[in-house]
Amino acid sequence: MNTLLKTTALFAAFSSTGFAAPEIVLADFEKSTYEPWTVTGEAFGPGPAQGALPGQMGVDGFRGKGLVNTFFNGDDTIGTLTSPEFRIDRKFIGFLIGGGKNEQGLALQLLVDGKVVRSATGNNDRPGGSEELQQESWDVSDLAGKKAVLKIVDDAKGGWGHLTVDQIVQTDTKPKGVVSGVERSFTATTRYLNIPIKNGAPHRVVTLLVDGKVIVRNDIELADGPADWWAPMDVSAWKGKKLTLRVDKLHEDSKALAAVDPGNEIKNADNLYEEPLRGQFHFSPMRGWNNDPNGMVFYNGEYHLFFQHNPYGWAWGNMTWGHAVSKDMVHWEELPSALLPDEMGPMFSGGAVVDWKNTSGFGKDGKPPMVVFYTAAGNPTVQCMAYSNDGRHFTKYEGNPIIKEISGGNRDPKVVWHEPTKSWVLVFYVELGGVHTMHFFTSPNLKEWTFASKIDGFFECPEFFEAPVDGDATKKKWVLSGASSDYRIGSFDGKTFTPETSMLPGQRGKDFYAAQAFSDQPDGRHILIGWWRTETRGMPFNQSMSIPLDLRLVQTAEGPRLTYTPVKELEALRAKSHRIAPQSLKPGDKNPLDDIRAELVEVRAEFEPGEADEVIFNIRDVMVVYDAKKQEFSVNGHRAPAPLIDGKQRITIFCDRTGVEAFASDGLCFIPMPINLKGENRRLYLETRGGAAKIASLEVHELRSAWKTK
Ligand code: FRU
Repeated sequence: MNTLLKTTALFAAFSSTGFAAPEIVLADFEKSTYEPWTVTGEAFGPGPAQGALPGQMGVDGFRGKGLVNTFFNGDDTIGTLTSPEFRIDRKFIGFLIGGGKNEQGLALQLLVDGKVVRSATGNNDRPGGSEELQQESWDVSDLAGKKAVLKIVDDAKGGWGHLTVDQIVQTDTKPKGVVSGVERSFTATTRYLNIPIKNGAPHRVVTLLVDGKVIVRNDIELADGPADWWAPMDVSAWKGKKLTLRVDKLHEDSKALAAVDPGNEIKNADNLYEEPLRGQFHFSPMRGWNNDPNGMVFYNGEYHLFFQHNPYGWAWGNMTWGHAVSKDMVHWEELPSALLPDEMGPMFSGGAVVDWKNTSGFGKDGKPPMVVFYTAAGNPTVQCMAYSNDGRHFTKYEGNPIIKEISGGNRDPKVVWHEPTKSWVLVFYVELGGVHTMHFFTSPNLKEWTFASKIDGFFECPEFFEAPVDGDATKKKWVLSGASSDYRIGSFDGKTFTPETSMLPGQRGKDFYAAQAFSDQPDGRHILIGWWRTETRGMPFNQSMSIPLDLRLVQTAEGPRLTYTPVKELEALRAKSHRIAPQSLKPGDKNPLDDIRAELVEVRAEFEPGEADEVIFNIRDVMVVYDAKKQEFSVNGHRAPAPLIDGKQRITIFCDRTGVEAFASDGLCFIPMPINLKGENRRLYLETRGGAAKIASLEVHELRSAWKTK
């Protein structure tokens, strides 16, 4: 390069920064006091804060260790903090600011001759929000050479009555900041828009518009840079239309919107369903978070499983009804979301029915509609419904809500048909003056609902059904349970549930919650699926569902009780079966399961404990133990009563990558237990302690993945 060219290039490089004079730091709040600034009031505390103060959400986005945080002693404290006088010597004053949005009460002000010439406030004016400080700046070129002071004012009380400020500088280069209402448009030609997600990044409000009309808003931890994972936004319903993603605010240099990638596949999902912590025969959504099963119903030859889904986050949020279908409850296909959050609120839990007699009038071409019930969890929180004529497309009822708010947080409608009174019954959770209750409403047509009765003592997610005792159709009982699965058995006259038992324990394990049974099950079984709280850190999805459980009432010496057993459809997963010869197994004997290595496994055993104190299964390091002395069953030390039945114990164990579901006493004892199992250990053991047990039958089935056997 010759000298002249080189000089020109150098000059160009300098002029692009305009020979910027160095930045002047007016305050970085890194010392233990505010000196030489002056303080009035209490809100500022004795000196700069070091992040969040007691009772405050996590504060981030500040520079160094200290910042101004007027949450000292909470939102209700007030005060001011004023700088010494300084001369305006640069084009911009840049600063970081966060906290409450309140132009009058919460401000960073620039004063010249005692008059406020610039002012900035925080950005939160409703519950929730974020304590992240944002970069902002003022152009002060018109004030060059003037003497000025900065004043931070907190004159606000109550929610978001505080401000955070840091790193105030004079600079000739406009600091890069946060811009609002950033958009990017696409023509919908692919199935998905892949959205980049960074777990823990600030939540951005992302709005999807189709041809300019708002479809849905979600709170998303958008990745400004490299993504942890990609969340597919299914846009297949809008082929050929103009899609716009609008983000409430983004750093100027954020790559998030530019990175959104249209495609027919989920980005970075080559190992979809084969991820190390993907339950191989437990339903989980392709991406994002799930909690409760919803709208479980058999309709048009398919099982429908809807679920509480955050399609765009690893943690709970953006409650959307995800949707999956199956012919056998074992092999599931995930479909596009069925219900998106709307102006009435996020879509909370509820049930579904087939309206065989078309009482609602939603049926079409002589075919009964599927009707789903959900809670719109806005303010007010109300019960709503939607219907479908094809099991794929869902229309929210124009007359929603069907039940107005009774008290804040009322939720989780479950609907059943009551044949003797020929009416629909809706049970949902209502908290009344601190008491947890279930309310019963009835309706002839699913549209108009009348209060019928209430019962105390049940919390969230009711399940309510009638079942025969010991399969005897002349001895039917009603069962009511809440989200924990504890239940009472009784009678029901179409309006009032009259319990005949106290509260009885349902499942005996951990992290099994909000279970629901399929409505309209063709063979009359009551098949339950629970939310199985399998935490899968590091995966682009989180949580799952339990295996389907056949729920029955059996007569015991104490009265009728529920039993849980794995549905027979799960036999379709058996890839290789080992039947081990009946034997008397004494302590020190060779491990009868020594030859088997299996990752996914079903174990079934029938034995008489005989002299044994304990019969111990070790399934890939999970200890499943029958304590014959105490007649207790346990998984990794988590114990529950498990009586012998006719002197025998029958045990079933299902083991997936994310844990174990173990059953004893023909299903009277069910212990679900999420545990992330180590991939490499495939060994199984069976041994006895204290004496010999008579093993009457022992089967081990190596299972295949449900995701691959479609
Ligand atoms: C139970 C629950 C329900 C609610 C839903 C919200 O897990 O709290 O009561 O409808 O989750 O996701």
